[in-house]
Amino acid sequence: MDTQAKKTALRGITYGLYLVGTKDDSGVNAFAGNWLTQTSFEPPLVALAVKAGTRSQKQIAASRVFSVNVLEAGQKDMVTAFFRALEPEGNKLAGYEFATGTTGCPLFKDALSYFECEVIDQVEKGDHFTYIGKVIDAGVHRKGDPLTMKETGFYYGG
Ligand SMILES: Cc1cc2nc3c(=O)[nH]c(=O)nc-3n(C[C@H](O)[C@H](O)[C@H](O)COP(=O)(O)O)c2cc1C
Repeated sequence: MDTQAKKTALRGITYGLYLVGTKDDSGVNAFAGNWLTQTSFEPPLVALAVKAGTRSQKQIAASRVFSVNVLEAGQKDMVTAFFRALEPEGNKLAGYEFATGTTGCPLFKDALSYFECEVIDQVEKGDHFTYIGKVIDAGVHRKGDPLTMKETGFYYGG
C-alpha cells in the first residue's frame, strides 16, 4: 500500500469535533473526540472510537455509558482544553461547568446540545476501541451551527 495515499485519503473523511463525557467510581472525565458517527435510526445508535488505555477508554469499558456534547462553531478554545488529562474541580472540568443527567456523565452548559449513550457492544481491535452506544437521552441548550474539524485546522486521522 502507498502509505502517503492512505494518509491523504483517510484525511479526506470529514468530521465534527465533540466533547465526550465519561465516568466511573473515581469520578467524571471528558475528552475531545472526532471519531464518532451515527449508525442506526431505530434504535438510535452511534459508534465512537476511543484511544485504548486512556482513562476515558477504561471508564467507558467499566461504566458502559458515555455522553456526547455538541459544541458550537467558534468554540475551538473550549475543545482544545480537552486534549489532555483532567481532574474535575467541583462541577467544572478545565474550567467549564457541567451538570449530570441520566448516565452521570458530564453535560456541558456551554455546548449546543448533548446525547447520552449506553454501550451495547464494542470492538476491541487496533489502537482505538470502538463502542456502539444506544442513545437513551438527549437535550438542546440552544440553536447554532456545530463545530467542525475543518474550522479548527486539526487533524486526527490518516
Ligand atoms: C483533533 C483531535 C481529535 C481527537 N479525537 C480523538 C478521538 O476521536 N478518540 C480518542 O480517543 N481520542 C481523541 N483525541 C485524543 C484525546 O483528546 C486525548 O488523548 C485525551 O486527552 C484522552 O483523554 P484521557 O487521557 O483523559 O482519557 C483527539 C485529539 C485531537 C487533538
